[in-house]
Amino acid sequence: MIRVGLMGAGVVASYGHIPAIQRTPGLVLKSIFEPDSGRMMATKADFKVDQGFTDSDLFFRSGLDAVVVTSPAPVHVANVELAARYGKPVLCEKPLAMTEAEAEHMIGVMRGAKLPLYVGFTYRFSPSAMEIKRLVRERAIGEVRDLRLIYNWDCHGRCDRDQGMHVFNTRRQGRMDEGGPMVDCGVHQIDLARWWLGSEIVRATGVGAWVDAEHTAPDHMYLHLDHAGGQHTMVEISYAYGHTIKEPRSQFLYELIGTDGIIRYDRNAGVFEVLTPAGARRLDYHEEKNFDGMYRAFEQALRTGEHGDLPTAEDGMVVTRIARSATDQAIASRPRLGSNA
Ligand SMILES: NC(=O)c1ccc[n+]([C@@H]2O[C@H](COP(=O)([O-])OP(=O)(O)OC[C@H]3O[C@@H](n4cnc5c(N)ncnc54)[C@H](O)[C@@H]3O)[C@@H](O)[C@H]2O)c1
Repeated sequence: MIRVGLMGAGVVASYGHIPAIQRTPGLVLKSIFEPDSGRMMATKADFKVDQGFTDSDLFFRSGLDAVVVTSPAPVHVANVELAARYGKPVLCEKPLAMTEAEAEHMIGVMRGAKLPLYVGFTYRFSPSAMEIKRLVRERAIGEVRDLRLIYNWDCHGRCDRDQGMHVFNTRRQGRMDEGGPMVDCGVHQIDLARWWLGSEIVRATGVGAWVDAEHTAPDHMYLHLDHAGGQHTMVEISYAYGHTIKEPRSQFLYELIGTDGIIRYDRNAGVFEVLTPAGARRLDYHEEKNFDGMYRAFEQALRTGEHGDLPTAEDGMVVTRIARSATDQAIASRPRLGSNA
């Protein structure tokens, strides 16, 4: 059994990582580290975890073979540095880092310690995303030339709906301060585009809209990517799609447009289909995230040293660079509100 320790027992750890680790053959969740003692105790009890710590030193000395970092993005770097010091391989949540330089530093530290560093792009492991990879490889729609990847949502709303519409949602604000929707969420779509096409991104152009004027980062963003193979990807991503409305709405779509057809994954309609000259073919629809699949890949990578489809730190660094620089580009060309000239 590979003994895993988890750093940061927040939202994604509770609904995604911890249950998936506990379901994965060959892995055991040995310890959690969480600086908030109340949350640490509650998570330890809820998931019947062997050991819980608010002290990182004791956590790293609790008999671990590998570590999962599910802390907020600004502290990924500090936790990866600790893991390197204690000699533990890491699976780190996305975005790997806040900047390309920080990602480079993390890669250097782990490489120096001769340890693997992987990034938790869970969307890759959806059976539907894996099927798209296979369809592209087998040229099911001919040459893929254009991707439209859309995720418009509200990041849980401007105000906390559970506590009434007057309680400000600090969680959404935090994500906006960390870089906004492209840096926080669009990294999944950028990763999918590179992975599906197997073609590096050679040019990225970011354009922003500010539904809430007070943020530095745009809360609705468009990204155009040119790939080395001549393909194009458009990512549209929003944290301001109905962020003030009572009943949340979202749009989640993948469309791959090829010389001989279209692949469509439409979460709103629950439809996954291939449209070709032979007609429309419905495929099994699966939700867009798959933590179990990611942990099966992590277990295999730790056991064999082969990363397979598990995203590497280099993938994380490239995607961080693109998301961050496109956001910075959008900020630099922000139009002035109310200007008609
Ligand atoms: N893959 C996905 O689908 C997905 C979904 C949501 C969030 N995420 C990512 O997961 C990470 C965590 O997001 P979240 O929504 O669970 O956040 P969260 O704020 O709910 O949880 C983070 C937890 O980390 C703890 N923490 C704070 N400082 C820490 C430190 N130095 N070391 C360890 N833990 C620390 C916090 O107390 C909190 O309990 C972020 O990087 C986020 O982008 C990924």
